[in-house]
Amino acid sequence: MNITVRVWRQADPYANGKMAIYKVDDISEHMSFLEMLDVLNERLTLRGDDPIAFDSDCREGICGMCGLVINGVAHGPLQTTTCQLHMRSFKDGDTIDIEPWRAEAFPVIKDLVVDRGAFDRIIQAGGYISAPTGTAPDSHATPVPKRDADRAFDAATCIGCGACVAACPNGSAMLFTAAKITHLGLLPQGQPERYSRVVGMVAQHDDEGFGGCTNIGECTAVCPKGIPLESISRLNRDLINALTHGGSHWPKAAPVREEGVEEEPVV
Ligand code: SF4
Ligand code: FES
Repeated sequence: MNITVRVWRQADPYANGKMAIYKVDDISEHMSFLEMLDVLNERLTLRGDDPIAFDSDCREGICGMCGLVINGVAHGPLQTTTCQLHMRSFKDGDTIDIEPWRAEAFPVIKDLVVDRGAFDRIIQAGGYISAPTGTAPDSHATPVPKRDADRAFDAATCIGCGACVAACPNGSAMLFTAAKITHLGLLPQGQPERYSRVVGMVAQHDDEGFGGCTNIGECTAVCPKGIPLESISRLNRDLINALTHGGSHWPKAAPVREEGVEEEPVV
C-alpha cells in the first residue's frame, strides 16, 4: 500500500503545533497502525529528521497507552485500540489524519503524546480498597454472587486509554471514572470506601478540568472495552446517595432533617 499521513507535530507543550504531511510507500496491509508509524519513523530517522513521538507499550490491547485520533475518531475506524488496528482497514492511496487526544485535561507533551496523569490522580483519589496484609485469604472466604462478579469484571476491563475523553464533546472522563466505581462498588471488598470513593474520585475528576457528562454517548461508541453508559448511572446513584444520605444504602435513605427540627434521639 502507498498512503499519505497528515500528522500533528508539536515540539513541546508550549510550541504551536501543525499538521505535517508524509508519504508512506510500500506498507503491508498486515502491519498494525503502530508498525506503519514505526516504518515512517525509521525513514525519518535515516534521513536525519525528528521521528514522530507517540505512545505504546503492550501492543496487545491491554495497557491503554496507544491512544491516537485517526481520521477524527478516537482509535480510528474500528472500536478497538490503535495497536489492534491494521492497515487493511484503509485503502491504497488513502490520506490518513493522525492527531493526539484533544482534551484540556490531557495536555500535549510532544507530537502525539499527551499527559494522562489526570487519570492517575483520579485513581489516587479513591480507586483502591483497603485490605489487611498477611497471608492470602482462602479463595471462598468472601463469597461474591456470580452476577456481581461478572459485572465487576466487565467494568475492570477498562484500560484507562482515555478514548472516552477524546470522543466526548464535553471532554468528560465520566466513563473511565464510572468503570472504576462500578468495578470496586460491586464487590464486597469495595464496600468500606464505596461512598467516600465516589465523592473523592468525582471531585478529582472535576478538579482536573474534565467536563460533565450530558449523556451524549460518544464515549461508549469508541470505548475499546465496551464499558456501557449504565456505569455512569451507577456512579450517579452512588454519588447522590453519598451526598444526600451519607452513603446509607439506596433507597433506604437516612431521615431528611427539616430546618429547626431537633433530631429524634436514636434508641
Ligand atoms: S472507559 Fe473505555 S474508553 Fe474510557 S478509558 Fe476505559 S477503556 Fe478507555
Ligand atoms: S499499546 Fe497497549 S493497548 Fe495499545
